[in-house]
Amino acid sequence: SKNHHYDFFIKESNYTRLCHEKTILTVNGQFPGPTIYARKGDVVVVNVYNQGDKNITIHWHGVDQPRNPWSDGPMYITQCPIQPGANLTYTIILSEEEGTLWWHAHSDYDRTTVHGAIVIHPKLSTTFPFKKPHKEIPVILSEWWNADVNLLLEESRKTGGDEVGISDANTINGQPGDLFPCSKNGTFTAAVESGNTYLLRIINAGLANDLFFGVAGHRLTVVGTDARYTKPFTVDQIMISPGQTVDALLEADRAANGSSNGRYYMAARTLATNTGIDFDNTTATAILEYADAPPSARAGLPDFPNNLPAIDDVNASTAYTAQLRSLGSEAHPVDVPTTDVDEHMLITIAVNVVPCTTGNGTCKGPLGARLAASLNNVSFHLPSVDILDAYYGSVRGVYETDFPDMPPFVFNFTDDNVPTERFFTRRGTKVKVVEYGAVVEVVFQDTAILGAENHPMHLHGFSFYVVGRGLGNFNQTTDPATYNLIDPPLQNTVTVPKSGWAAIRFRAANPGVWFMHCHFERHSEWGMDTVFIVKDGKTPQAKMMRRPPGMPRC
Ligand code: C2O
Ligand code: CU
Repeated sequence: SKNHHYDFFIKESNYTRLCHEKTILTVNGQFPGPTIYARKGDVVVVNVYNQGDKNITIHWHGVDQPRNPWSDGPMYITQCPIQPGANLTYTIILSEEEGTLWWHAHSDYDRTTVHGAIVIHPKLSTTFPFKKPHKEIPVILSEWWNADVNLLLEESRKTGGDEVGISDANTINGQPGDLFPCSKNGTFTAAVESGNTYLLRIINAGLANDLFFGVAGHRLTVVGTDARYTKPFTVDQIMISPGQTVDALLEADRAANGSSNGRYYMAARTLATNTGIDFDNTTATAILEYADAPPSARAGLPDFPNNLPAIDDVNASTAYTAQLRSLGSEAHPVDVPTTDVDEHMLITIAVNVVPCTTGNGTCKGPLGARLAASLNNVSFHLPSVDILDAYYGSVRGVYETDFPDMPPFVFNFTDDNVPTERFFTRRGTKVKVVEYGAVVEVVFQDTAILGAENHPMHLHGFSFYVVGRGLGNFNQTTDPATYNLIDPPLQNTVTVPKSGWAAIRFRAANPGVWFMHCHFERHSEWGMDTVFIVKDGKTPQAKMMRRPPGMPRC
């Protein structure tokens, strides 16, 4: 294994999209930010210099960080923010991951523009479990916002409403593409040659949108997700939620013989599971161009994918997701805990309100209250010092260890007629403490309290097996019998289906303090979060239990 070193300079830079010029927070002036390259088993050291004018932290999304929670990054969970003018060195320990992950800011809404890819190649003496691709093509999906979302966030924290609204365009590698004004010149173009196979490393870095992604005239063979290999399956398009990554092979099999087009659009479009609220219904495009096609074939308009599902086609999304299976080869075995679950947790997911406490007591949320979101009727409140330091330093009063402190309300979670009193939830900083090595099963249950929709639930510190998924209320008696305990996919972000449930399992063998939250940014901001504290077990490492020198103080 090898050490890699990167310098990240956080700074404001000028960017123009959709004819709209503004300064955005970037790493090294790049948007999307620089790609980190490593191999499985390597260690990456990143020096982050905050040359911007606000507090920031960086998170290495999907990296388990074994016994290394101090470098995980979420603000006020594992660290205090890096203040303007300060710097911090993160150590990223890659152990089991292989494929595509990403890094992003984990403070306020900074990840809107502060994000980039992590590409993890196989160890030197090993190779991909598929034919070596000719080239790799990064496909970072995200959004462009004309407004300054951090300003809107501040505003919404005051009013209790949803001032942040919706993005102005989806983007591919930072560009909305040809279909938008002032955008043609910047459209991302990937040059390919007929007869070759390409590996697309697809990331959904966006704040708000589940996305369908496809390429006109081509199919995609999915070979991995969240930096774990899957059994290959071929589709017209994928569905990818914020936080997730997909590795897919594309065969450049269109003959470049003049009779066929030499240019094809790649396109990303929102999957809206709750069409009752506003959403960004734009389609971002990039171009796949056959470099060996005659110039005449590269002159016209690219072909558009005619098979992208409708904007609200939940069935297309479900059908795609159901095909994800762990590879389960000798080199990449499946290790799903099949028996002796130590912790069974049912966690309800809801968008709610909390009483308005500002000004005249009237907020801009529903019922004049403050918009909130919750897990098991607790709307997570970020503390003002980090939980990790409070835990190891035995600082009292920062968090409570009684999550969930009461069983979820029992009612038909997915019913549309929710009694008004169910709209209200409580605020708290409640965490779940688990023994080292415990097998944990979490069943996430979506509710229809203020509207049902998909929720991409993300866990830090672990990848987990997604053993089951279904619609309606989870049934404790019959649903576990439907679990896939043979080859479920290993992921770090699971799309909990609208008005349905998803079950995950993991072994809590990574001591530390680990955030779990919805990867829709506004849901996380509103409190759709909790924390797992995993105890040290019999072999605590004294080094790990002290705040490393150089960590920022709050
Ligand atoms: Cu992608 Cu808590 O993060
Ligand atoms: Cu959510």
